[in-house]
Amino acid sequence: MSNPLLPHLATLTQVKDLAVGIKLFRCKFNDSQVGANFDYRPGQFGFLSAFGVGESPFGLTSTKGRLNSEVEFAVARVGTVTAALHELEEGDTVGIRGPYGNWFPLDEVRGKRIVIIGGGIGMAPLRPVIQTIIYNRRDYDELILLCAARQPNLLVFKEEYDEWAAAPNTRFHVTVDVGDNSWKGNVGLITKLLADVAPTPDNAVAITCGPPIMIKFVLKGLKELGFTPEQIVTTLESKMKCGIGKCGRCNVGERYICLDGPVFRYDQILKFLEEF
Ligand SMILES: Cc1cc2nc3c(=O)[nH]c(=O)nc-3n(C[C@H](O)[C@H](O)[C@H](O)COP(=O)(O)OP(=O)(O)OC[C@H]3O[C@@H](n4cnc5c(N)ncnc54)[C@H](O)[C@@H]3O)c2cc1C
Ligand code: FES
Repeated sequence: MSNPLLPHLATLTQVKDLAVGIKLFRCKFNDSQVGANFDYRPGQFGFLSAFGVGESPFGLTSTKGRLNSEVEFAVARVGTVTAALHELEEGDTVGIRGPYGNWFPLDEVRGKRIVIIGGGIGMAPLRPVIQTIIYNRRDYDELILLCAARQPNLLVFKEEYDEWAAAPNTRFHVTVDVGDNSWKGNVGLITKLLADVAPTPDNAVAITCGPPIMIKFVLKGLKELGFTPEQIVTTLESKMKCGIGKCGRCNVGERYICLDGPVFRYDQILKFLEEF
């Protein structure tokens, strides 16, 4: 039996700056069969390793089938592994294992109005959600996109904004906590934008991902707009080691975030959040 903790080798075919301190890595599996079998859905994650340094979990930010068998990760530089990854260049080799975890329930929410609220690097796992909805636009009702970052040079996937904004039956809004001289858009926290846009909860589902503090206040804002916990899907963050339910590093209560998550309906985690 193959070792599930052994990464597959992959070559970086593209490394580019997405924002200050955030890079996009496009990876091609060295074994094309591994690439063809790497079947994943929006919300799942994988471990990316910088050889000689270590590995870390990152949301898969590509959409299966869009890049042949290549996969993409958006990595914010915060510590040891991410700094080592940021030193890599196109042509270098990385390790990848996964895909792990569950996914956003895009099949279950067909026909509904979708409100997507993403902050900072939290847009990484939301990008394939947005792409999937846009490529299957008629399967869903109105799409309302709210994106945020602390400052303009931390906004990710900016080059895709025009495509997202132009999608049929879509409202697209961006805000930054603090603007700069060149910024002409909204300034203020994403919770203010949410209150201003005020999406109706009728036949709607809200999907949100971002830093824990943002999630906390977005959940509050959604509740104030009338969304029930069953209408809200979010992600939980935790430190992880194995990603496959063996090490006990990521458990919250009786659940392992790597297996039962990282995607949860809000009503499923109300109790966990109280325990946090
Ligand atoms: C399911 C999942 C998906 C993720 N997706 C992404 C993604 O798409 N892009 C991205 O940039 N990051 C993502 N992260 C966070 C990423 O795993 C951490 O930033 C990374 O492990 C830090 O490694 P490091 O060695 O560079 O940092 P370290 O040197 O280990 O630590 C530096 C700082 O980062 C914090 N940190 C370390 N690990 C985590 C973690 N797992 N979650 C939150 N904070 C952490 C530490 O507390 C410390 O403050 C994800 C995490 C999980 C669990
Ligand atoms: S990371 Fe090991 S059990 Fe979840």
